[in-house]
Amino acid sequence: MEFYKYATSSPWGVSFFCRLDPVSLTLMKMLVTGGAGFIGTNFVRRTLTTRPEYEITVLDKLTYAGNSSNLTGLDVHFVQGDVADRELVDKLVKASDVVVHFAAETHVDASLRDPAAFVHSNVVGTFALLEAIRKYDTRLHYISTDEVFGDLELTDSRRFTETSPYNPSSPYSATKAGADHLVRAWIRSFNIPATLSHCSNNYGPYQHIEKFIPRQITNILTHRTPKLYGTGAQIRDWIHVDDHNSAVQLILDNGTIGESYIIGADNDHITNKQVISLICELMGLSPDAYEHVSDRPGHDQRYAMDSTKLRTELGWQPHFTDTNTGMRTGLAETITWYTENRAWWEPLKAQVEANYAATGQ
Ligand code: NAD
Ligand code: TYD
Repeated sequence: MEFYKYATSSPWGVSFFCRLDPVSLTLMKMLVTGGAGFIGTNFVRRTLTTRPEYEITVLDKLTYAGNSSNLTGLDVHFVQGDVADRELVDKLVKASDVVVHFAAETHVDASLRDPAAFVHSNVVGTFALLEAIRKYDTRLHYISTDEVFGDLELTDSRRFTETSPYNPSSPYSATKAGADHLVRAWIRSFNIPATLSHCSNNYGPYQHIEKFIPRQITNILTHRTPKLYGTGAQIRDWIHVDDHNSAVQLILDNGTIGESYIIGADNDHITNKQVISLICELMGLSPDAYEHVSDRPGHDQRYAMDSTKLRTELGWQPHFTDTNTGMRTGLAETITWYTENRAWWEPLKAQVEANYAATGQ
């Protein structure tokens, strides 16, 4: 990995090298924002393995959620900088054929403590990127979330579709919804060549241990008790990160410009309580070896995704399909990854738990 730290006062000094797709002889220079975070890291790794025709540049601010060591040893250019920095983003977009925009502040609990960073990165950052996309007419795929649609009642069996109304409930989802509206407006008003996707909760390697699944795995690995918010009746439509990223690659290849796509793996019947019990069981504990802690204010109840359009129009299928056994295969692999990569998360653990303890969680 080549590492560049961008300072506004420094002259731009990154050189780009072009790689040719042997079939189409087109240049394939890809900018991945937020590529040092959870999903971005997995996307970069997957793309390097499966799509060697891409020359990848990662732009990442390296907030607490980003980790440049995720990309160590990989054949990527790395630029440390802010997606809201218009001068920097202009130069990077100008040098790119395609942009995949993952960069965002992402943790609902953190957005309840301090929303300012969410407005900056998610709304102002997306605006800065869109202005460069419009200027250079660059292909953009924007990574949204299911949370922009708000939540469903636990008794409501409907699923979100591409036409579900926006109804965000947290500062995180409100800022993602704001960014979505900007993308949609830039598509309609300026004809930018963009697609959007809305995915449900991801799990897998490299996820920050503040999030539900890795928090419980690392609690058990450090002899802490797993923590379930409230009753644990809430439902997240869990999807393995590789399945999310295979969908993003397909949308980039074959998606219809201007369209949005729901991504989901049909896990909308599994409660938080069932997930935590399964983690306990897979890690050799009793399925009820967790404790209930304070619930999250305004806790979204149920997310459920209808990915029919992606499956029928683009032929997408998730790889981790063992919905009847409750994500068992993907979770077991994820547990193995955290068990074998203690050095990646262990230095963060005490601080993450201290933050949660301050809110009774
Ligand atoms: P993450 O928090 O693990 O990573 C976000 C990355 O963005 C970090 O590396 C961080 O340093 C970087 N970043 C933050 N602000 C930045 C800025 N201003 N400039 C440049 N870089 C910045 O998040 P994630 O879980 O990998 O999520 C990635 C994207 O996917 C987000 O847009 C999120 O809304 C979306 N998404 C996530 C999930 C999920 O379950 N994690 C589900 C659906 C959609
Ligand atoms: P999280 O991973 O924070 O994702 P999101 O809030 O974006 O859905 O939380 C997933 C679910 O798990 C959510 O319903 C809150 C719950 N949760 C717990 O029960 N215990 C925990 O320790 C955490 C972090 C989350």
